[in-house]
Amino acid sequence: MNLVEVHFVEADRTVFVQPGTTLLDAAEMADVDVMMGCSRGMCGTDAHRVEAVEGALEDPDEDERGTVERMGLDAACRLLCCARVRSGKVTVVGDALTD
Ligand code: FES
Repeated sequence: MNLVEVHFVEADRTVFVQPGTTLLDAAEMADVDVMMGCSRGMCGTDAHRVEAVEGALEDPDEDERGTVERMGLDAACRLLCCARVRSGKVTVVGDALTD
């Protein structure tokens, strides 16, 4: 199984993780501090702007999609506790609420 590269721009850290890993778990592996709250897609505290080619991330589930829409964020924003990597490379650009 090919590992997925996850790069955190602000911390300038990169980790290689198993497909299915959440970006929040990848952040912990990379020793990147992330503000978080509920860890289940409801609060939006961990919303980040993400760059990834089509298919590099699993599609957002209903809870994540609803929270992102409620926050008025665009589709390039994902909740780190929900977004799971699938393949290739994912770049976590920065906090969606401050960038
Ligand atoms: S920590 Fe609450 S939505 Fe991710």
